[in-house]
Amino acid sequence: MPTDIPIAHVDIRPEDVEAVGRVLASGSLRQGKVVAEFEEAVAERVGAEHAVAVSSGTAALHLAYLALFEPGDEVIVPAFTFVATASMVMAAGARPILADIDPKTLTINVDHVRSLVTERTRGIAGVHLFGNACAIDELTNLAREAELTIVWDAAQALGTEYNGKDIGCLDRAVCYSFYPTKNITTGEGGMIVTPDGALAEKLCLLRSQGAERKYLHTVLGFNYRLTDFQAALGISQLARLNDYLAQRRRNASALSESLGRITWLACPTTLPGVRHSYNQYAIVLSEHVDHGVRDQVAERLRDAGVETAVHYPRPLHHQPFMAQERADLSVSQRVSERVLCLPIHPGIDDSAALRLAETAYETLSAIKL
Ligand SMILES: Cc1ncc(COP(=O)(O)O)c(C=O)c1O
Repeated sequence: MPTDIPIAHVDIRPEDVEAVGRVLASGSLRQGKVVAEFEEAVAERVGAEHAVAVSSGTAALHLAYLALFEPGDEVIVPAFTFVATASMVMAAGARPILADIDPKTLTINVDHVRSLVTERTRGIAGVHLFGNACAIDELTNLAREAELTIVWDAAQALGTEYNGKDIGCLDRAVCYSFYPTKNITTGEGGMIVTPDGALAEKLCLLRSQGAERKYLHTVLGFNYRLTDFQAALGISQLARLNDYLAQRRRNASALSESLGRITWLACPTTLPGVRHSYNQYAIVLSEHVDHGVRDQVAERLRDAGVETAVHYPRPLHHQPFMAQERADLSVSQRVSERVLCLPIHPGIDDSAALRLAETAYETLSAIKL
């Protein structure tokens, strides 16, 4: 039986400390050439033309929405996602319109998106939730037909691939987070990557007080800059991304092999061509099971030394700041009542993953429904 397996783990190695220390010792504590190197490294890694580093994934979404949409525009976002996917649409003066999710992939339901398009719709937020790519081709086709712009929320999806290509090479803006639970970390931090040079220029302006040059502010902007020492950590972590992804994927295989035998829950499912990066490993209890069983599962796993987390316990239409009655978001509602995330991070090595998978199977199969 495993000893304590936490839900998240931050992997800071001596080379990370050294890289950050070198920048600190240089006295350059602001955005400078190390941030530019980090942008270049991420752009190269994901196959994007341009990259703009910012202070968080939330800031990345805020700037992408601001740069691409006008006040009053409607942007369709999934109801089951982290709050910032929708709240930053509002912060940009646009209107988030909530769409339901697909019960298998837990990502936005494209048919529902199509039914929500109006003459005011200008965009879609395609969220690669938990590191699982959403229906990229279908969304792209719909966006082309209806002349919409897609902002991809890849906060949890650094390293996810679709048809052999990194999801970071997609049009028109792909937003990442480097928060400590993400696939690599800079502490707080984020990035927008894009094939569009003019958009990248606009994002750079917005990130730094809207200043074209010192004290000449051509647009209303912010201070959303990343610092050189955060970027140094990012560069150092990025060098290990392949190892991290490989471990996450092996851990997911071990869990799915065991938990796939339990009939009353669903393990993560991908669309054809998707290579999941497993930032989170989310199981969903089947709809025939009382949703109270989730607490029982979490409790029993905790007793067995396995920490779990609920991402996310409320769909966005039940968040007080944007509460609305929506009978058509039933999958988001059901999943938020039945989802449970298990540890999957690369701090779990192969032998710990096997023990985790066995413990999870034994614990869950002992539950009498
Ligand atoms: C899907 C999604 N979007 C956006 C964000 C926001 O990123 P950050 O926490 O870096 O602001 C997160 C962070 O958890 C996220 O999971």
